[in-house]
Amino acid sequence: MKKKKIVIGNWKMNPETFKEAKELSEGIRKKMVGVKKTTAVVCPPHLYFMSLKPKNASTKLFYGLQNIAREAAGSFTGELSATMARNCGVTYTIIGHSERRALGETDDDVNKKVLLALKEGIKAVICVGESKVDEHAGHLTFIKNQIVTALKGVTTSDIGNVLIAYEPLSAIGAKNPITSYEIHQRNIFIKKVLCDLYGKAKAFDIPVLYGGSANAMNAKELVEGGEVDGLLVGRDSLKVDNFIAILKEMDSIS
Ligand code: PGA
Repeated sequence: MKKKKIVIGNWKMNPETFKEAKELSEGIRKKMVGVKKTTAVVCPPHLYFMSLKPKNASTKLFYGLQNIAREAAGSFTGELSATMARNCGVTYTIIGHSERRALGETDDDVNKKVLLALKEGIKAVICVGESKVDEHAGHLTFIKNQIVTALKGVTTSDIGNVLIAYEPLSAIGAKNPITSYEIHQRNIFIKKVLCDLYGKAKAFDIPVLYGGSANAMNAKELVEGGEVDGLLVGRDSLKVDNFIAILKEMDSIS
């Protein structure tokens, strides 16, 4: 069965004012009426989350976080636990984005965060991706290690709440994504790693997204050509019309 396409907007440390964040969130929600099939998630900064997420559940737009703490509870200044997130109605969280890994987050940290998110029933969007491609396929070993470590201890019953976002570092915040052919190759490789861990039936149910310089112009080609289940979008999730245009491109894929 074909999976629903999913687009996740990672707002990163944007926008600078709550007013702009509210306009963005409400603008997307209003225009979501034109989006029929695609699942849409936005991940604003923690500080804005509670005020942006509507109290009633009737919205079609999901709200997620960009990160959670690696510890379940305790004295960790500045951190936000998975339990707190669950209690505040968080349904998705990005984990292990390369920009956080660049700040020192390890594969082991990612694994701890994934287990805590899943324990609370929060969907874990695990980011993986190589910083460079080498001719001896070292980048594939790198991606495999990231996935295997992130999923250590994740049971077959919890794997249904996992999404993998493949984001090659060279394409994040850049001018160009990698080609859909390359995305397809990585997608096949990621599926093989997941098959080895969870068996074919479960593995093929795990959504694999692509991220890095995705926009409304290239979204369809990247997803169709890469045979991925959707996109993790940075810059183009910060403008209502651009984000909606990406969602509509996803809707147009049969
Ligand atoms: P970008 O960011 O769409 O601005 O390249 C993607 C990401 O960092 O997830």
